[in-house]
Amino acid sequence: MAELHLEIDRGRGGLSAQIVAALRDAVRSGRLPAGARLPSTRDLAADLAVSRGVVVTAYEQLRAEGTLLSRRGDGTRVAPSPSLPGAPAPTADLAAWPTAPPARPDPPSSTVADLRPGQPDLSAFPRGAWLGALRGVLREAPHGELLAYPDPAGARALRVALAGYLGRVRAAVAGPDDVTVVNGVAHGLSAVVTQLVRHGNVPLAVEDPTSERQLPLLRATGAELIPVPVDGEGLDVAALAATPARAVLVTPAHQYPTGVVLSPARRAALLAWARDTGGIVLEDDYDAEFRYDREPVGCLQGMAPGHVVLLGSVSKALAPGLRLGWTVAPPPVAAALREHRARTDLGGATPDQLAFARLLEGDAHDRHLRVLRRRYRARRDALVAVLAEHLPGARVHGVSAGLHLYVELPPGRAEADVVAGAAARGVVVSGAAELWSPGRAASAPAALVLGYGGVPTSALMNAVEILGRVVTPRAPG
Ligand SMILES: Cc1ncc(COP(=O)(O)O)c(C=O)c1O
Repeated sequence: MAELHLEIDRGRGGLSAQIVAALRDAVRSGRLPAGARLPSTRDLAADLAVSRGVVVTAYEQLRAEGTLLSRRGDGTRVAPSPSLPGAPAPTADLAAWPTAPPARPDPPSSTVADLRPGQPDLSAFPRGAWLGALRGVLREAPHGELLAYPDPAGARALRVALAGYLGRVRAAVAGPDDVTVVNGVAHGLSAVVTQLVRHGNVPLAVEDPTSERQLPLLRATGAELIPVPVDGEGLDVAALAATPARAVLVTPAHQYPTGVVLSPARRAALLAWARDTGGIVLEDDYDAEFRYDREPVGCLQGMAPGHVVLLGSVSKALAPGLRLGWTVAPPPVAAALREHRARTDLGGATPDQLAFARLLEGDAHDRHLRVLRRRYRARRDALVAVLAEHLPGARVHGVSAGLHLYVELPPGRAEADVVAGAAARGVVVSGAAELWSPGRAASAPAALVLGYGGVPTSALMNAVEILGRVVTPRAPG
């Protein structure tokens, strides 16, 4: 079943007409290219929370006008079109820019559960589909395409597939030449920020709090980093504008670690900042595949392709061990990245890239995501319920998306004591203190960042029961 990002206003009525307009727009803009497969009417109706008849009527209208084609056994696809406009012209001009993450030790063998964030459910990796795709690639791809030194920007087949996928699912505006294949978001960030430093587009603003994994690699580029506060609406753009930053790294779909979704007003303000200052927005889309019960939020890149570099990877949807990710960047930045790879490492391994392209071209990836989303939603629901039961004074944030929760501890509980007490009872958790800048850490509430993606429901329940006893010890007797 194909995935598709569409925005409609359910309060406004005329739902079929809205879907027709949104799909027409997506086809005209090139976001949905000729031949792209659409979700079934049942799936799209479920995604948009409308009745199936509304979607059936919209598809019928689009078929009648020749925008869509349906064939038995092949679903509904975008009809061939003689002329589709390309991506908008870039406005960020690279030439005009003035010129180790902590190790993650294995938990002890007596561990009840490891709730540190960042790990998806590795047992869900679609080994059969991956093997099939890789076997197909090894059997069919010509020697040169498979085994020669690669295009440093990545295998073209994958860049084509990613441009289509990200347009369809994240409302990105991308052609294959805007895409660079990298070894995950971390690698993409290192490469992009290295280019920013080379071209003088620094200092780099980072969200406060932020991911402890990103900071060492950002520092290793030599960039000066400026922390900018995050509040209940996401990054404080007015505070950003008061800094000398020329670039900013954000996690707008699900802020890491607080889970806040960047509000529409802040999204607009951030893009206005980029346009007004010539600044670059680095959009870390690290867990965007997983949204559960909130309106879909398209990526910022699709709203301002000339000012935003989108970074994503398969680390949450497939496995972090694949080390496979992408950047979508304005042409001058994409060209700089390609040259960077040519200069530094000659590009990435082709067979895995071609296998992933096959998954994206068929419906295997979309089907896998649907299965995962159901599984993670069930784990999220169980975790939220069991937290309410055993940590009743805690405030839970970031529930609507992703694979982790941000849990503020009840007042008066010392974060380090809770982390140590839980570890002593076999529950490995991460505190949030180290994610805040030194200036804000003292006033930040004591909190835990609880990852649930890789933890089965029964283990989550045991772990939180233990955590509850650590946070609120029972009176003896
Ligand atoms: C916010 C955030 N972005 C990116 C990454 C790194 O992702 P990747 O595996 O794609 O390098 C992490 C790692 O957990 C993360 O927490």
